[in-house]
Amino acid sequence: MTNLLEAWRIDHSYFKRLLALLQKQVDAFHFGNTANYDLMLDIISYLRDYSDEMHHPREDVAFARMARHCPDMELALSRLAQEHRIIAQAGETLRKHLEAVLADAIVPKAEIEVAAATYLVYYGNHIAKEEEDVLPRAAQVLTPADWEAVRNAMPQRRDPLFGGSSDERYRVLRRQIALES
Ligand SMILES: [Fe+2]
Ligand SMILES: [Fe+2]
Repeated sequence: MTNLLEAWRIDHSYFKRLLALLQKQVDAFHFGNTANYDLMLDIISYLRDYSDEMHHPREDVAFARMARHCPDMELALSRLAQEHRIIAQAGETLRKHLEAVLADAIVPKAEIEVAAATYLVYYGNHIAKEEEDVLPRAAQVLTPADWEAVRNAMPQRRDPLFGGSSDERYRVLRRQIALES
């Protein structure tokens, strides 16, 4: 249980680092400097791949289990679960825009900015709410059986960016993260 709770927190710390890195690129873009679209695409691809496919499905199970123990949190938890779907959709929209730019298609600057800002605001607030309201309570109320259900929500797989693998897909992003820290 402690391991899963710790892993939950660690995931968030990684996601926040990536969102800060994405924000930096969006700021560069906004102020007319050259943004690194490849890096932006790597960040969003990783978050679509790992967070949307692994982190959020596990949270959905954790939220459902918590709602049984804490009826007072039911509404807040169901909103957070709904936000997972919104984040996935906003992420996909941004990913498509970035892929189009990299394929030399003309994408209005405002569209990319809106997609990126929506994603960053949503995701940042979402993580903050989870850390403030959900994780401390999860530590108190979830039973070993609940944690087992959370673990089993998705088969364990290695984090392709931070999991110590040498996955070539994220080599450049990994190097950039090392430079920033
Ligand atoms: Fe979440
Ligand atoms: Fe989360």
